[in-house]
Amino acid sequence: MSAPMLEGRTAVITGAADGLGWAMAQRFASEGARIVVADLRADLARQRVNALREGGAEASFFAVDVTDEAAVDALFAHAGAEFGGVDVLCNNAGVTRDSVLRKMSLDDFRLVLDVHLQGAWLCTRAAVASMRDTGSRGSIINMSSIAGKVGNPGQTNYSTAKAGMVGLTKATAKEVARYGIRVNAIAPGLIRTAMTEQMDQAVLAESVASVPLGRIGEPGDVADVALFLASDLSSYMTGCLLEVTGGRHM
Ligand SMILES: NC(=O)c1ccc[n+]([C@@H]2O[C@H](COP(=O)([O-])OP(=O)(O)OC[C@H]3O[C@@H](n4cnc5c(N)ncnc54)[C@H](O)[C@@H]3O)[C@@H](O)[C@H]2O)c1
Repeated sequence: MSAPMLEGRTAVITGAADGLGWAMAQRFASEGARIVVADLRADLARQRVNALREGGAEASFFAVDVTDEAAVDALFAHAGAEFGGVDVLCNNAGVTRDSVLRKMSLDDFRLVLDVHLQGAWLCTRAAVASMRDTGSRGSIINMSSIAGKVGNPGQTNYSTAKAGMVGLTKATAKEVARYGIRVNAIAPGLIRTAMTEQMDQAVLAESVASVPLGRIGEPGDVADVALFLASDLSSYMTGCLLEVTGGRHM
């Protein structure tokens, strides 16, 4: 029998209290990873950590707003103190503030860019510093979106942020490859989480009808691909964007 794929590795997952982040936390823990659940929502995140521990995993919670530089640095100091560093970072925390351009406030544009793009950049900077200090040949996974490829009307903020995360992925991948650190991105399509529950359900049903594989994605569909990117199965891949869309927008 082969060893668990992430045995002895520590994964920091932002936005891990819910949705895709929680699915990745469970999937990575099932493959032996130590998990740092990093999220704004303390109560839910604590419940998640307890559930991971009950399942036999090592896990820890850190309350963080990924837009806050000092809080992000403290998150990685926590991962160092608790587990000796970080080997896998998932930049997954996200929010939406949808509206047509004419009605979108600058605050809603900024918030979405700050959480996705600035948050991912701050976490990446801190994670790379930690990986270099410990010599970890780590893996960074950025949760982009198919919206960054095709552009969604009503989501000029979100589509801009998600396209930006692809640039961040590629630039960082080139910069840190020499240290054996890999950086890849995932572009999910429509996945069943709180984020898609907020959508107009008629629009959602119409969109799902155009998915070649004929169904909405489940968080586990994305978590499996993230596990592949986190693990040595993808050891010759960096700077890639993997679409997990059921074939929509191929
Ligand atoms: N669900 C989809 O269909 C879909 C599709 C494409 C991309 N994505 C992306 O996947 C990621 C996860 O989405 P989801 O659907 O699981 O969303 P979700 O709303 O279920 O979970 C997002 C999590 O991020 C946390 N969060 C929000 N702002 C934060 C901040 N400033 N600091 C720390 N944590 C914060 C929330 O508390 C929440 O637990 C997001 O980046 C999203 O844009 C989702």
